[in-house]
Amino acid sequence: MLFTSYPLRNLTLKNRIVMSPMCMYACADESGRVNDWHRIHYPSRAVGQVGLIIVEATAVTAQGRISANDLGIWSDEHVAGLRELTALVHGQGTHIGIQIAHAGRKATVDGPIVAPSAIAFDEKSRTPEAMTLEQIEETIAAFGAAARRAKEAGFDVVEIHAAHGYLINEFLSPLTNKRDDAYGGDRARNFRFLSEVVRAVQAEWDGPLFVRISASDYHPEGMTPSDYVEYARLLKEQGVDLIDVSSGALVPVPPKVYPGYQVPFSEQLRREAGIATGAVGLITEAEQAEEILQSGRADLIFLGRALLRDPYWPRTAAKRLGVQLEPPKSYTRAW
Ligand code: FNR
Repeated sequence: MLFTSYPLRNLTLKNRIVMSPMCMYACADESGRVNDWHRIHYPSRAVGQVGLIIVEATAVTAQGRISANDLGIWSDEHVAGLRELTALVHGQGTHIGIQIAHAGRKATVDGPIVAPSAIAFDEKSRTPEAMTLEQIEETIAAFGAAARRAKEAGFDVVEIHAAHGYLINEFLSPLTNKRDDAYGGDRARNFRFLSEVVRAVQAEWDGPLFVRISASDYHPEGMTPSDYVEYARLLKEQGVDLIDVSSGALVPVPPKVYPGYQVPFSEQLRREAGIATGAVGLITEAEQAEEILQSGRADLIFLGRALLRDPYWPRTAAKRLGVQLEPPKSYTRAW
């Protein structure tokens, strides 16, 4: 199944291998613009025959950057560079998406940082300002504008980053959302920010839409995979195509990690919410990826570090599974 195509609205991915979004912190200045590193790094994985590449967390506002070297999509000036990336990857027969993100209280840029509530991540981190309703509105609009720019830049997929303790995740979890207004206080109100971000994105974007979540906070008072089943159902009703199922990083509690440690969360959401999912996290072997798909535990396999180490991972996997993989045409005789 790993090398079977996957239909996604208006497009068909050539296989189930997805490059997971990974920040490169590679912008030399603070412009947020695409540079040579991105122009080499992403197309390399397209040559390696990945089915879908998701460009790293890309900031929807300058204030929402994880670091000053993040990629940006907060200005129309970012579109030209991003369009170069999509053209390069499309030229090698691979689809390309972008993860749009706001770092919330985990932003490390100069100036004030914002979050649903004024609670710092840990004692070493800065305390964010609790967002006003006006700031909330502006940030939702920034996600919408980012989706418009993603379309102008030629992306095939938009992924909303609602995981890893960044802004949207901070609204979703009761550990970080202590508001008592329309945007916090109970399950429905904690979900409202994400729901409105989805709507703002959909006003500009009619292509495939993914949402990455942290299915567990690994904390007794935090969110659990079962809580996320409910949210995944709501996201499905809103027209989200796939949940990319990660976990953790909301609060400083490191999870126990082992091969496929997040796959059970993907399996539960897929089964109980009836939505397509992507599995991610210490998936490194072809047989492991194949098992996840064959057992109906996910629809797509997201690979992070395995694809950093081996841009040709799909070729390596195809050999192991005995699948004939179409080589890039210039490599035909060497593949
Ligand atoms: C990441 N990860 C990540 N996740 C995300 O949603 N947006 C991001 O921008 C990043 N950035 C990032 C950078 C680097 C260098 C790494 C290694 C990881 C998490 C990543 O997408 C993936 O979920 C994890 O790495 C687990 O998968 P692997 O690496 O075990 O396959």
